[in-house]
Amino acid sequence: MSDALLETDLPLPNRRQGKVRDLYDIELPDGSAGVLIVATDRISAFDVVMGNGVPGKGVLLTRISTFWFEHFADRIDHHLVATDPDLLPGLTAAQRRDLQGRSMLCRKLEVVPIECVARGYLAGSGWKDYQRSGAVCGVALPSGLRNGDRLPETIFTPATKAVTGHDENIAFEDAAARVGEGLMVRLRQLTLDLYGAASAYAAERGIILADTKFEFGLAPGSAEPVLVDEIFTPDSSRFWPADSWQPGGEQASFDKQYVRNYLEELVAAGRWNKTAPGPELPPNVVANTLARYREACQRLTGSVPL
Ligand SMILES: Nc1ncnc2c1ncn2[C@@H]1O[C@H](COP(=O)(O)OP(=O)(O)O)[C@@H](O)[C@H]1O
Ligand SMILES: [Mg+2]
Repeated sequence: MSDALLETDLPLPNRRQGKVRDLYDIELPDGSAGVLIVATDRISAFDVVMGNGVPGKGVLLTRISTFWFEHFADRIDHHLVATDPDLLPGLTAAQRRDLQGRSMLCRKLEVVPIECVARGYLAGSGWKDYQRSGAVCGVALPSGLRNGDRLPETIFTPATKAVTGHDENIAFEDAAARVGEGLMVRLRQLTLDLYGAASAYAAERGIILADTKFEFGLAPGSAEPVLVDEIFTPDSSRFWPADSWQPGGEQASFDKQYVRNYLEELVAAGRWNKTAPGPELPPNVVANTLARYREACQRLTGSVPL
């Protein structure tokens, strides 16, 4: 197994690091503002980055996002301009090699500070909120639902995009108060449409798309949202194998749930408290996580890049 790429140090301006991606400013071929987004092999859970990476994860995420951006290109505009690192000026051969398959040259857009989440099933923070209040983000749900149950209809559950700390589920009205009612109505419609279409596509491939998260951006002077960040990846979505779906507990998954389950064992044993720094994942957890991401990529896109 090759080494994980944990971070990059490219000769480009204004590097900033998210939990998984390194971003740089770069001019696009037409002279407009762009960002180079590099998906590293970092993995985060509970909003904390783990001590080691999952080698090749960034390449898989990039392949999956790129696939979906193209798949939905006639439905919605996206930020991706090019993926070939050879188009980037001023990089050494080694730097280009590091970026192969994991860099996206994108339009730099003003990111709407709301995470747009669609849920067709009850899981994660939705399940937690439901247990506490019978509702998720102000959307009341029938009583008696179990962890992993299918919802009567897909719900839109926005969250704040916290700069540091945890994203917080908020009511639609709160999101509208922050960024505007008209924009949120449009984002809700886009989120539910894309989720519906991708769910049907995934279902044909034996995958339940339980929920997913989008980020949208706005170009200067335009009111029409553009898809940014990543879409329908195992980092931004819950993917469950349809043939083992069994409501009433944690589902088997092709996503980060496997890592979360391992970490919950550490927490229960008093060996971690969900704050930074994240622990080192043991080799079998790394290997099993990678296998799940590969399986998701294979089933959804029909191939794996590594
Ligand atoms: N086209 C874009 N223009 C500007 N910022 C973007 C664009 N696409 C994604 N981003 C931002 O890049 C960051 C991606 O890095 P990531 O590691 O996923 O961050 P996070 O820890 O917030 O999940 C996010 O903050 C996202 O909002
Ligand atoms: Mg992210």
